[in-house]
Formats: sequence, C-alpha cells, structure tokens
Amino acid sequence: MSNFDTRQSQQVQRTSDGRLRHLITLDGLSRAEITSLLDMAQFYVRKPHELPARDQSLAGHTVANLFFEPSTRTRVSFELAAQRLGAYVVNLDMQTSSRVKGETVLDTLYTLQAMHADVLVMRDAEPGLPAQVAPFVAPHVSILNAGEAHVSHPTQGLLDALTIRQHKPDFSKLSILIVGDLMHSRVARSTWRALDTVGIGEVRIAGPSHLLPPANEFTGAVRYTDINQAIKDVDVVMALRIQKERMNEAHIPDDAGYCREFGLTPERMKLARPDAIVMHPAPMNRGVEITNEVADGKQSVIQQQVTNGVAIRMAVLATIARGAHGQ
Ligand code: CP
Repeated sequence: MSNFDTRQSQQVQRTSDGRLRHLITLDGLSRAEITSLLDMAQFYVRKPHELPARDQSLAGHTVANLFFEPSTRTRVSFELAAQRLGAYVVNLDMQTSSRVKGETVLDTLYTLQAMHADVLVMRDAEPGLPAQVAPFVAPHVSILNAGEAHVSHPTQGLLDALTIRQHKPDFSKLSILIVGDLMHSRVARSTWRALDTVGIGEVRIAGPSHLLPPANEFTGAVRYTDINQAIKDVDVVMALRIQKERMNEAHIPDDAGYCREFGLTPERMKLARPDAIVMHPAPMNRGVEITNEVADGKQSVIQQQVTNGVAIRMAVLATIARGAHGQ
C-alpha cells in the first residue's frame, strides 16, 4: 500500500478566496481552523440525558449520505447532525441503488445534485475519489469525506481531538500512543494530522512491523514494535481495528496471537499513566486489539467518541454551510 499525496485534496477543498467549501482532508487546515471546529462542536455537545442542541444553520438544505462502504457511526451521526441543523436528509442505500447496475459515482452525484442536494457525504474504498469528483459538482454542492480508503477520515480525526481535549485540555503536554493496523487506517492518518496541527506533545505509533505505515508518513512520531515499551507513561492510548478487508491472507494475524502481542489488556494499561484514557474509533474486534475489560472499563472514552461524532459533524456542516473560514 503506497503513501498517498493529498495535495490535490487540499487544493480542491477551498474556494479561490480560501474558504473551505468541501472537507476532504485535514491536511492544510490551520491550527485556528481546527480549533474553531472543536470549539463549535463543544458548543453542540450534549450529555445523553440532555436534549440535543439544535439550530437552523442548514434550514432548507438537503444532505445526502452516499456510503459505498459499510458504516454505523459515521452515517448515523451525519444524519442526526444534519437533522439537528434543520436539513432534509437522504440516505442512499447503495445495495439497492443504480450503482449495482453499473452507474458511475459521478453520475450518482449528478443525479443527487439534480434533485437539489447541497451536501454530499461520501465514503468509498477508492483512494482519491472525493478530490477527483469535487471539481465536477455544481457550485452549490459541497463534498464531505466520510472515509476514503486508507487515506483520510477527517471528521473522525476531529472527533478524536475533541474527545482528548475534553479530558486533557493542554495538547502540548500530552503523549499519545496509536497502536495496531496503522498501515490501513484512515482514522490514524486523520487523527495524527489533527493532533500534529494543534501541537500535541508526543505521538508514538506501535504495531507489527508489516502494519506500520511507510517511513515518510507520521513524521515526528516515534515508532515501536513492542507495545510494552510504547505504552509506558502515555496519557492517551488509541487502539485500531485490524482491517482484514484491506489485507491479503498472508498478512492477517491470528486473533489470539495478536491480542497477546499488541492487545490492550488490563495488565498492559497499568504501564500507561494511571489517568490515561483509552480510545478506539470502532467498530472494535473485542478480544483482538482490545479486551472487554479495557473497552468497557473506567478509562475508556469510546462511547464519548461516538457522542462527540454528532457534535463534530454538526460543526463541520454548519461551517461549510456558512462558508465561515476565510471571512
Ligand atoms: N469510526 C467509524 O468510522 O465507524 P463506522 O465505520 O461505523 O462509521
């Protein structure tokens, strides 16, 4: 799997006067832009027993969810976020759409925009697709990347940064370990980008050597193949899913062996700081990269990540709709 150059994504996501029209990558966003999105999301955050925040930032807009790969959290949270901002929402079921008859992605997007969809939320397994289609959509349409192959998952990166900030507000003092299948992880790439931009103190990455990313990615991160070394005294531990669907047979580790070598277990968590938080973008392979005790334990903020996903997507939708950046 090759390193992916996101320069095209960075260029096409802005208008000629620098405003963020699409959100395809976090690469190239400034610290101020990311902080502004986190602040806005924090405003939208509600605890489970509270009524959700609402406003009319997207009143009259139509948001279409086009997930060409499976999703639970991202798709539902984009839907809830759009509803809470007053938008109409359409969820295209790809299994019963005309894509199975061979219709191209671009024709699918043209079809939705002809029905006056304004925001097209896309997930796809093809690297580069959001940046390829963005120049061809109508001027009133924005593309939001909801997961692009192994390359990018910008709203997940933002919600991870928000979750960390809620527990540990001074990024500069933090040490984070991201452990697991970094090679195939769009989440790790976007979360690292968000944290690097806001000035995280230290990033460590760990995993089997064949699942670590190429040397020219995650610049500045310290690399480990021994999790027991990597986890020592960190403030944040993020486990990643083994993405079997993106591996050939030879690279798929056996579950028990992987858990023994790299899994987050209660014993291993004792090596991190006592107040360390545990994160996972989910879906989880319980008993593989994380045990039930850790996933459901006191240090886990995994459900809070899910809750923050709605608020982050509200912030992104509202920001795109208002054309807030660069004004
Ligand atoms: N974290 C994440 O993207 O989850 P889904 O695949 O369920 O959307």
